[in-house]
Amino acid sequence: MIEIDALQTFARDMLPALEQEMRTVLAQPAASPSLHSEPATSLRSVQALRLSKGRPSYCQNELLMTGSNNNTTNSDALVIFMPSGRRGRVPHGTSLLDAARQVGVEIESICGGRLTCGKCQVQVEIGSFAKHGILSKDENVSPPSAEESDFLRQRRASDCRLSCSATVRGDLLVTVPEESQARKQIVRKSATKRVIEIMPAVRQVYVEVEPADLWDHRGDWERLQAALAGQWQLDAVYADTFVWRDLQTTLRQGKWTATVTLWQEREIIDVRPGYHEGAYGLAVDVGTTTVAGHLCDLRTGEIVATESMMNPQVTYGEDLMSRISYGMMHSDGVAVMHKAIIKALNQLAGRAAAQAGIKISDIYEVVLVGNTVMHHLLLGIDPVELGGAPFALATHSAIDLKARDLGLRLHPGANVHIPPVIAGHVGADNVAVLLAEAPHQQDEMMLIIDIGTNGEILLGNRHRVLSASSPTGPAFEGAQISHGIRASPGAIERVRIDPQTLAPRFRVIGDERWSDEWPAGSGNGHQPTLASGICGSGIIEVIAELFLAGILWPDGRFNPTLDHPRLRWQGKSGAYVLATAGQTSTGEPILVTQDDVRAIQLAKAALYAGAKLLMNRAAVTTVDRVLLAGAFGSYIDPKHAMVLGLIPDCDLERVYAVGNAAGDGARIALLNRDKRLEAQQVTRWIDYVESAVEPGFQEEFVAAIHLPHKSDPYPHLADILPGQPDRTQSGRSGRRRQRRSLDE
Ligand code: FES
Repeated sequence: MIEIDALQTFARDMLPALEQEMRTVLAQPAASPSLHSEPATSLRSVQALRLSKGRPSYCQNELLMTGSNNNTTNSDALVIFMPSGRRGRVPHGTSLLDAARQVGVEIESICGGRLTCGKCQVQVEIGSFAKHGILSKDENVSPPSAEESDFLRQRRASDCRLSCSATVRGDLLVTVPEESQARKQIVRKSATKRVIEIMPAVRQVYVEVEPADLWDHRGDWERLQAALAGQWQLDAVYADTFVWRDLQTTLRQGKWTATVTLWQEREIIDVRPGYHEGAYGLAVDVGTTTVAGHLCDLRTGEIVATESMMNPQVTYGEDLMSRISYGMMHSDGVAVMHKAIIKALNQLAGRAAAQAGIKISDIYEVVLVGNTVMHHLLLGIDPVELGGAPFALATHSAIDLKARDLGLRLHPGANVHIPPVIAGHVGADNVAVLLAEAPHQQDEMMLIIDIGTNGEILLGNRHRVLSASSPTGPAFEGAQISHGIRASPGAIERVRIDPQTLAPRFRVIGDERWSDEWPAGSGNGHQPTLASGICGSGIIEVIAELFLAGILWPDGRFNPTLDHPRLRWQGKSGAYVLATAGQTSTGEPILVTQDDVRAIQLAKAALYAGAKLLMNRAAVTTVDRVLLAGAFGSYIDPKHAMVLGLIPDCDLERVYAVGNAAGDGARIALLNRDKRLEAQQVTRWIDYVESAVEPGFQEEFVAAIHLPHKSDPYPHLADILPGQPDRTQSGRSGRRRQRRSLDE
């Protein structure tokens, strides 16, 4: 029973309509039973109801009660839970766990109050708390039983109480520590901080099952069903086939107690004897070039291991089109590529589990995101239709299937969730970016560019979101660049070129010092990590710096009028010596060639043209915020990206590198089942623009090949961009260059 005060009238008059509205918003056949994960309660927080337009809005701590159980008496005790501040009146004798549930505070309770799990610990605060208007006295809570005291002592938590055991005897102020909060929140670091509410599709409950008996003719399954219904209000559950095989042995091993793992509150995917704790999930971004996964504790949301590896399909083609062609040219091509990625995912899961020190059978769910070709190959679907207009997908819906059906060796009952895809060229990875950055919830016009082998672009705000994809190719990932390598120790990731001397300095991954701070000669000081190549962020910086220093002209050609020892020539093709032979691990200089510049120009023009198409569609000439996502997104310097013309002009303070947003989105879908519903709704709401057949694309692409752009202005770079080259002069030194051969 709850204190309602002035809200009672509102509850009586408005709640049925509001609840109906919420049900309509949230109704989804697959997940509706799981929207309220704890045993049924008649409470709804007004905060949720604030979603309803035009309704009164109340602060978070105020509560409404539905149904008939709404009469409180003055003799009931006031209980306030911190840090939420939720409060309510409950009859004396109510357990703190039940009181918390009644006011909408969810406390962990895997064992359901059997003093087994210890997850329901709370702190009872003693004293007078004027701020909350409560006198919380020692005698207002029941003393711990011997069993509870023993339990807490063993866990070195004697200052806590088990909320399932402690009962209310008077007014109390109770703190629920973060570890005990059922819907924990974790903050994801990004351009804007985002809170992920932990509400996974998988959860575990502990049950005590009626033992078999001569006079009880029910089967063990029916006994388990009755226990779940009676102890956890879980009706209408069904079991994965795998569960049947061991159910009888398991129940007897556990002396008629068991831990049941449920998926979406309706399917039993595991039953283990007695009390068992530990459910993990894997969120994987299956990129064209790189596969990256986070292994997460599904109860806390914590990332317990992170692993990445090359996508082995690279062997069959570096980009999407070449993989589609491989499938077309080889009768077993699709099967070969499917097997390769499944094998890689098994390796990745095995490594992550080993890193975290858990068993692979403790992984109960995987969320996989990827572009549409990766999506089809993962599922063993021939992606041939994606290779040409009308770029038809086999399905754009979200998919749930058994991991074992894909050949993934996790827990036998584990589920694979693949979010929906947007269109033929915009896949579940882009939907994951949507979940992570949520442009559909923003007022500002936001441009998100996910840089990978296939660039994906989102533009919009809460009123409209547009999406497109651009075939950037693998240049940003180091491929197609003469000295390109993946981001690894020794890769050049930062570059500066002195505009006066044209001399470079660089920094490699694994060494904080710039190359001009390296000790001279061997044996002097801490030896540097020698350069082994250039990674994506390095190639962006070096080309932008070459342009700023006047070594590259706006059309991308090396300035033929310069004479400098760092410049080498082979015919009309120039190259710049970024690292000398003495600075590299191979003993060969690292050059940036004309072909490298061209490859980056084409890639960045494809991205820019895609973004521009969307801006034209949205009838905007500027954006408020630019987010750079992608495997190496965190490492891209916004200024250099803009100098290169990879993104439209924007206040540099409003350009953010957000890292692997697709991976973050996969993690959000793993940890919060409601976000899966949101993904389905938003995916069908956004406008997709097919850049491949858009009439203006070619024109935009050609104009964007220039550095930073042939015609679009960049007022925010006005102070740093070089002027137009004077092609009538003989260069900054006034001397005609003497050509140096690339072979020198
Ligand atoms: S709910 Fe498990 S010990 Fe309280």
